[in-house]
Amino acid sequence: MSEPAEQTPTNEIQEQAVRLGLDLSRLPQHVGIIMDGNGRWATQRGLPRLIGHREGYKTLRTVLLAANDLGIRYLTVYAFSAENWRRPQDEVRGLMDLITQAATDELRIMHQNNVRVLVAGRIHEVPEKLQRALKKGVETTRNNTGITFTLAINYGGRAEIVDAVKQLVRDGASPEEVDEDAIGKRLYLPEVPDPDLLIRTAGEMRLSNFLLWQSAYSELVVMPMPWPEFSTEALLEACLNFQRRVRKFGGVV
Ligand code: FPP
Repeated sequence: MSEPAEQTPTNEIQEQAVRLGLDLSRLPQHVGIIMDGNGRWATQRGLPRLIGHREGYKTLRTVLLAANDLGIRYLTVYAFSAENWRRPQDEVRGLMDLITQAATDELRIMHQNNVRVLVAGRIHEVPEKLQRALKKGVETTRNNTGITFTLAINYGGRAEIVDAVKQLVRDGASPEEVDEDAIGKRLYLPEVPDPDLLIRTAGEMRLSNFLLWQSAYSELVVMPMPWPEFSTEALLEACLNFQRRVRKFGGVV
């Protein structure tokens, strides 16, 4: 019997995925990533933490393009949390500069690869230069039809829910009108589906305020390597792990 059409790999990454046993017709539609361990990666090598973030940036570029080629429709990464302002000033400034540089330098390659860029978070609070770079990225790629790549910057899951509830109050909702749909519609990116798979690197088993509302039924995969050592192979392994899970959404199978 021939393979179903959607199983036929159309590029190298899909071929690699099928060789590993992945079912291309059951990929997670939306993958979220907590890119943890940049600092530890650097410290273990006697390097400044910012070098770890720089290596993390290179990993992100590889993983984004791999996810796009694989056929994942949405990738959301935790680039800077609402709590990360508590880090030393030098590191905060370095991270803001690095994300600004990435948003500027990578725009051409993302656009060429049909990537659509979105941002989530209290973006009005980040440096103006970064705001401008993000705005340009979102506007330039708005009609692209490949992977939707969301940068969560100055993002906090609780802050997002607070912002949605504030909007509900501004909209004059009565208690009877407050339900999951009314809140969900007022989150930062209501059009983006909930993540099916959440990956966290560097071994820590917690959500750290990432996509709290949206991750209610996400499958969590914690991987031991720090983010700079994450790779296309690790992404495929996480997807394989995801495909072994039985998703019940509170029901029975
Ligand atoms: C967590 O590692 C990582 C971050 C707070 C920042 C993530 C940023 C990047 C991957 C840099 C590039 C990003 C973009 C969007 C270009 P950590 O510093 O908390 O690591 P640690 O727990 O080992 O200290």
